[in-house]
Amino acid sequence: MKLFIKKPIQQLMAASAETEKSLKRTLGVGSLIALGIGAIIGAGIFVRTAAAAGEHAGPAVTISFLIAAAGCALAGLCYAEFASMIPIAGSAYTYSYATMGEFIAWIIGWDLVLEYALGAATVSIGWSQYFNEFLSTFFNFHIPYQWTHSFFEVSNTTAGMYAAELGTRGLINLPAIFIVLVLTLLLIRGTAESALVNNIIVIVKVAIVLMIIGLGWSFINPAFHTPYMIPADAGTVKVSTGVVDYGDTFNHGWLGVLRGASVVFFAFIGFDAVSTAAQEAKNPQRDMPKGILISLVFCTALYILFSHVLTGLVSYKDFLIQGKEASVSYAIKTAMPGYGWLASFVTVSILAGFSSVILVMLMGQTRVFYTMSTDGLIPKVFSKLHPKFRTPYKSQWLFFVFVSLFAGFIPDKYVGDMVSIGTLFAFVLVCIGIFILRRTDPDIKRPFQTPAYMIVCPLGAVICLCMIASEGWENWARLIVWLLIGFIIYFGYSIKRSHVRHGKVEAAEDPINPKFME
Ligand code: ALA
Repeated sequence: MKLFIKKPIQQLMAASAETEKSLKRTLGVGSLIALGIGAIIGAGIFVRTAAAAGEHAGPAVTISFLIAAAGCALAGLCYAEFASMIPIAGSAYTYSYATMGEFIAWIIGWDLVLEYALGAATVSIGWSQYFNEFLSTFFNFHIPYQWTHSFFEVSNTTAGMYAAELGTRGLINLPAIFIVLVLTLLLIRGTAESALVNNIIVIVKVAIVLMIIGLGWSFINPAFHTPYMIPADAGTVKVSTGVVDYGDTFNHGWLGVLRGASVVFFAFIGFDAVSTAAQEAKNPQRDMPKGILISLVFCTALYILFSHVLTGLVSYKDFLIQGKEASVSYAIKTAMPGYGWLASFVTVSILAGFSSVILVMLMGQTRVFYTMSTDGLIPKVFSKLHPKFRTPYKSQWLFFVFVSLFAGFIPDKYVGDMVSIGTLFAFVLVCIGIFILRRTDPDIKRPFQTPAYMIVCPLGAVICLCMIASEGWENWARLIVWLLIGFIIYFGYSIKRSHVRHGKVEAAEDPINPKFME
């Protein structure tokens, strides 16, 4: 059994010519950076930062960002090399199929579900928090706790909009499901976000972060930054999902900072969008590393300054209780008198900003499954196109159900951790894969080569593995279970039907909506 059978590059190119408009080399460094920033800034900074500071890292969440950024930068360079080897648009799944073989491609494709589908679920849970904040700010009304939280959460705050609902258990997160439904319908109609809308959203997202840094700086209370790391004797806090004990290994000190890195790592997800645009770059060898590194450095600098301000406005412990939801609006309202307008502006903009991240993730997910389905690895239903809109509508509906199950019934903490661990695992595979390919296939044409790969690849893998290690056995178990399910499907179904394995070249039934492939 040839587990590592590779998809011939010619076949990839032929299929791509059939289903995609030919891509022009039009992107310079500036566009690559905008693309990266647009895909990066989202719930990671506006939701997960507070969670990481509150539970694991305290004000030292700034250092967590540095660690996560280092892992991303190194893995990002490997990603860029990977993407540049295959001169077509695609995801890590596509590239690995042609270079590392079917089995690794399967693992990566399966793993991408954690990144994209659960990523969409995590951001939609964040959307729900800010949506209720929006209703409460503008209409003095909010959807009750049980309809905006999972069954695994119990209201633990006596302040803010849920004050009267102390002790209420969640039931289902309806707004989170609602936003996934709306965006699913848009995607089925083939609505890709226009470049203009995307640019406006990027500008607004960056503007909010800059405004909070600039305007919030003078409200920083140094007392909240001392001590900088959480001490082991910081006690316990009752939270909506149970109790946080700061005495636990990964909830204080340096290990807490490392655990925090795996949480805020979420904030960097999406930068690989830059590397998937390798074939559209005018000069990949020069522009790709610049595009990746500059957007990462830019976002990292913003994130560090932002988290420095955020943890200086209120105590990190607040982010587990009254400031757990819509944390950024909470911090502004609590610590910046006279800036209510900023809190309102942030709340509204975040709703739009998060929607665009969810849209991209849902689209990315169905796009990867579309390709896997045309390869015969998963059932045909995932590449079934809508007769009129030419979008994979059945797949979109199936993922609506899948994403909603997480968005509606699981707390963001658990879903977000699964996204981080799944994506980190894919990064580790890419780092190791690039290292091995340099040795086994030195002659493949590589328009972009990772510099100092002997150091970059192993170091990238080690940093990502350290973050995975800090996630704890429960998260490892979830990842392992997910991979085992993947193996069962692969060996029970895919291997018998793989087109590459059985020499079948099946044309896609009809071209997919080009907007959908953008
Ligand atoms: N990086 C994206 C976010 O933070 C996924 O929402």
